[in-house]
Amino acid sequence: MTKTANTMWGGRFAAGPDAIMEAINASIGYDQRLAPQDIAGSLAHATMLAATGIITDTDAAAIKEGLVTVLSEIETGNFAFSAALEDIHMNVESRLKEIVGEPAGRLHTARSRNDQVAVDFRLWVRDQCDLADAALAGLQKALLGQAEVGADWVMPGFTHLQTAQPVTWGHHMLAYVEMFDRDRSRFADARKRMNTSPLGAAALAGTSFPIDREMTAKELGFDRPMTNSLDAVSDRDFALEFLAASSICAMHLSRMAEELVIWSSAQFRFVKMSDKWSTGSSIMPQKRNPDAAELIRAKIGRIFGANVALMTVMKGLPLTYSKDMQEDKEQTFDAADNLMLALAAMSGMVADMTANRESLKQAASSGFSTATDLADWLVRELGLPFRDAHHVTGSLVAMAEGKECDLPDLTLDDMQTVHADIRADVFDVLGVENSVDSRMSLGGTAPAQVRAQAAYWREKLK
Ligand code: ARG
Repeated sequence: MTKTANTMWGGRFAAGPDAIMEAINASIGYDQRLAPQDIAGSLAHATMLAATGIITDTDAAAIKEGLVTVLSEIETGNFAFSAALEDIHMNVESRLKEIVGEPAGRLHTARSRNDQVAVDFRLWVRDQCDLADAALAGLQKALLGQAEVGADWVMPGFTHLQTAQPVTWGHHMLAYVEMFDRDRSRFADARKRMNTSPLGAAALAGTSFPIDREMTAKELGFDRPMTNSLDAVSDRDFALEFLAASSICAMHLSRMAEELVIWSSAQFRFVKMSDKWSTGSSIMPQKRNPDAAELIRAKIGRIFGANVALMTVMKGLPLTYSKDMQEDKEQTFDAADNLMLALAAMSGMVADMTANRESLKQAASSGFSTATDLADWLVRELGLPFRDAHHVTGSLVAMAEGKECDLPDLTLDDMQTVHADIRADVFDVLGVENSVDSRMSLGGTAPAQVRAQAAYWREKLK
């Protein structure tokens, strides 16, 4: 039996689509998520059509009432989505026709699915920017809580994952607060730029009906209508910017996840994840695995992937709309879902984890972490050029290495064999606490600086 043609556009078609054609063409399997946005767009459009006299108030009222019913059917799971109707736009309109009859056919006046989908997807992505912002603020607060508890806890700072200089736990936590704040500003920028309305661009060229685009833009919370109809229906920059911001944010999450995996290992023991955020092994009873951190690290790939996929979809498209653009949604949805999940998991893990002050201090006190402090002392107290001080310190590190001890364990006699002028007060700078206390430069790791920064963030994140 041949299928009948689509009732929405099938006037010139004698037969319906091949089953495979329907499968490749239909987006309803995923774009049903856009139902609230689609109906918001239609409500605004119907209001405007009546206000401009393009349709009657009576028809607009029937349409709007019907749309509200459709939305509630969808929200309560009482809606039969149909692949034959391709997408959310036609599924909604078709059901509207069943409910209100003839007026439903007037809703699509001065509109096309091309501007319709551009509106729906923009509204959806705009919401995601807001959700990302809120989730990031939550994560920042969790990190800030950690920073405040351990503002002066000493830990090793690393470069090349080799012990470099002692830093403070609070300083390390606040580094992530800064990163996530830049992410927030990227989402905010993207949101601002995307907040213009494509509605009224119609298929691509605008319309001959006397529509009021300012009115629909305002109704939907957009700052203004987009000013070029060709651009309005073919632009997906807003989704790309969201995915780009998401990718950078995801990269930050992944770096942090990587640190948590390392820090929670038996070799580091810098942090203990709470039971809520650990998993056990079915064979090794001693294990507490940081699965959530690992999954965050792994899920990030999907977000990068969505960004690359959409760039690739868009790069070959002539103006204006091509069906390729239907592929913008599925991966963006997946990226957004996984970003929100990763942010929530990271916030939970960070809020519940306990830093091990002793292990942090112990690690900070090994690996010659105060070698730079020693070199600085030689410069400050003995007037050595830094390069010479670096060399003297290097010899002292080698000596300590030979004796299998750390710098503070060398005797003054030992030190004087390398440089005769070294005095006993050098030992003051070799302790890790003194080292961090001395890093008072702006943005430095000194607890006093960290507390000041934490206070700044506490106020800002209120
Ligand atoms: N489902 C389509 C999409 O997501 C809606 C727009 C269809 N427009 C068209 N001219 N076929 O892109």
